[in-house]
Amino acid sequence: MNDFIYNTPTKVYFGKGKEKEIGEIIREYGYKKIMLQYGKASVIKSGLLDTIKASLNNSAIEFVEMGGVEPNPKITFVREAIAVAKREKVDMILAVGGGSVIDSCKYTALGAKADCDVWDFAMGKRKPIDAIPVACVLTHSAAGSEMSNSAVITNLELNMKKGCSTELNRLKFAVMNPELTYTLPAYQTACGVVDIMAHTMERYFTVCDDTDLTDRIAESILKAVISAGRVAVETPNDYEARATIMWASSLSHNGLTGCGRENYLAVHQLEHALSGEYDHVAHGAGLAVLFPAWAKYVYKTNVKRFAQFARRVWDIVESDDEKAAIMGIEAMSNYFKSIGMPTTLKEFNIPNVAERLADLCTYQKTRTVKSYITLDYKVIKEIFESCY
Ligand code: NZQ
Ligand code: ZN
Repeated sequence: MNDFIYNTPTKVYFGKGKEKEIGEIIREYGYKKIMLQYGKASVIKSGLLDTIKASLNNSAIEFVEMGGVEPNPKITFVREAIAVAKREKVDMILAVGGGSVIDSCKYTALGAKADCDVWDFAMGKRKPIDAIPVACVLTHSAAGSEMSNSAVITNLELNMKKGCSTELNRLKFAVMNPELTYTLPAYQTACGVVDIMAHTMERYFTVCDDTDLTDRIAESILKAVISAGRVAVETPNDYEARATIMWASSLSHNGLTGCGRENYLAVHQLEHALSGEYDHVAHGAGLAVLFPAWAKYVYKTNVKRFAQFARRVWDIVESDDEKAAIMGIEAMSNYFKSIGMPTTLKEFNIPNVAERLADLCTYQKTRTVKSYITLDYKVIKEIFESCY
């Protein structure tokens, strides 16, 4: 096991009806004037926004609204929000939504305390040094942004989707009521399940093998999510399934499943090139196509680990390691398909642009991506090509 730092400072308020306490919780923290960010429509339609506003009013918390965050959130929106946050001198930012809204809030929080353009943080030109505190009422179990140290933003002018990882991105608190995810369409539910699995599997498939406890935590999360995912797609208002998926969303990406090992998130790098270029691609759906393709490309570099994954996660009974490894990858791909996910890039109506995607992923051939084998332009292009 490698040395590690495990830092999860986010306080979690988990359970039914917890969103009604939001005003009280914020008052206890001592914040007085907040920015409220939310997405395009779902929180308005479900009535959640009204519930939040009523709770804030009851606790005499002043708020300014920034609604309309798009999926795959955009830097242009964040820049507007930063100007408002500075002008209104808000002392906290509340995200009501999924990963996109939370990430928009994280970037707003970093930008509101900076004197440079916030895109500089995404490009790694500058390091953020301060942030306004951020919290959330989670409505989508997927990105794990509610407990992660990263934020992902899209710059449409540059066709780039970029993450920024810093401990300043850790939320103060997260309110998580699984009932709030009942309204998610089956497709979005499935995207979330894939993303949670991907966060866990990215850390599972690394070069350091002597991490038995972390392996078993990851395998348990995967098994629980696979089974709850099947239920939630069929029965949207199954509380236990929704609760399992919601908690797994946080655990899969708060660092727990990466303790003691290297953390690459290579497939995420490929996917961000894809959904950065094609805005209609949901992150989880992109991962559903790319993860099996990546796995087929690299499994030979660690057949033993892929065989362990097959046997422990997918209950594959096969004594030959290589055969088991292949069966495990097939089981993963079949599962994604069974919950309504695409298996090829064609299904997104995307032409064969493997070269372009490989260019974007490698920042015009100026970087490689760390994985079992180093993924350079040529390899990345081949992986994208295998997805058509
Ligand atoms: O905009 P509204 O109307 O709210 O609709 C959203 C959106 O269309 C809808 N939705 C959310 N909650 C709902 C709901 N619809 C009905 N009922 C509800 N309760 O779902 C759609 C997708 O929402 P979004 O927030 O975009 O999804 P997700 O949580 O998957 O977040 C995706 C973003 O997170 C980034 C992704 O790249 C992507 O930009 N990621 C962020 C990470 C992080 N910060 O740590 C890590 C991830 O790997 C990921 O890259
Ligand atoms: Zn992800």
